[in-house]
Amino acid sequence: MVKLSHAAAPAAVLADASPQPAGAARIVVTRRIFEDQLAVLRQRYTVIDNQADGVLAPAELQARMAQAQGVLVDPAGRIDGPLLAHCPLLRVVSNIAVGYNNIDVEACTRAGILVTNTPDVLTQATADHAWALLMAAARRVVESDRWTRAGHWQGFALDSFLGADVYGATLGILGMGRIGSAIADRARGFSMPVIYHNRKAPQAVADDPLAPRWVERDVLFAQADFLVLVLPYSPATHHVVGATELARMKPGAVLVNIARGGIVDDAALVAALRAGRPGAAALDVMENEPRMNEQLPLLDNIVLTPHIGSATTTARRGMVRLAMDNLAAALGGQRPAALVNPQAWEGRRTS
Ligand code: GLV
Repeated sequence: MVKLSHAAAPAAVLADASPQPAGAARIVVTRRIFEDQLAVLRQRYTVIDNQADGVLAPAELQARMAQAQGVLVDPAGRIDGPLLAHCPLLRVVSNIAVGYNNIDVEACTRAGILVTNTPDVLTQATADHAWALLMAAARRVVESDRWTRAGHWQGFALDSFLGADVYGATLGILGMGRIGSAIADRARGFSMPVIYHNRKAPQAVADDPLAPRWVERDVLFAQADFLVLVLPYSPATHHVVGATELARMKPGAVLVNIARGGIVDDAALVAALRAGRPGAAALDVMENEPRMNEQLPLLDNIVLTPHIGSATTTARRGMVRLAMDNLAAALGGQRPAALVNPQAWEGRRTS
């Protein structure tokens, strides 16, 4: 695994929290972040960090957060109602991610705790990764790489690892927000018509043949040669891609999930991939990650990456920077730039 650029320090424990000017807010950082960015936090706050490899056990997280005013958390850290009940001083949950399904936002709002996220800074990197997955699955890059390394190659063969044409194929996007639009922009270079579905149909339709075209959800599944999922996860989007939707896809189509695990019913996907409909898939996120359906890695027609959609140094540092700015704003009494629950602002905790 590529480590963050600086040597990992030992995990801090409550008693070791960095000493700070009297009255400095106490903040918890739940996972390893870049050392130089952590150093900036330490100049300002009393920081309880976790520069070790693993995720904190719930009891440990609860103990660390008991006296904290702020927390920097990432998608592997769960901030829920029962935990909040033990955080009487908490004023802000700053997520180092654009998606925030790891946080019970309603419970935070009820408690007057601000929740923030990191949009925009990761848009282009995540769109790039969607394309990396799409191309890898279309052209069987991972499967043929494994085969080549295993020493099976006897020389050029006309019918070796035949894949799917990308150029000119129809790209489908479920969830056309910032990242979906960035994925669609890249499709112009491949002369791909783009169809998409959002809950709300657009008011105006552009008169450019390569402009993304809104379609009903069923049509999206039936017509896309490549279908990329970019919608947020919530109870409403749990398993929106299940056996029925997969059966609507074209034989040979490719499904790409860069959104969240749980949007796809992974067990149904295993069965569908075995049946060749869709023909291949690429997942950056899985149900119950980091554990996954044990059948997934046994399939050849799937590409798996470990939730690295935004994993470029620029994007990941930008996410931490924005999360730090959001946290500083909230603790300084300013409205954070990326506030997820504006309805909490009026009744926010101030001390
Ligand atoms: C990462 O998954 C994010 O939501 O930013």
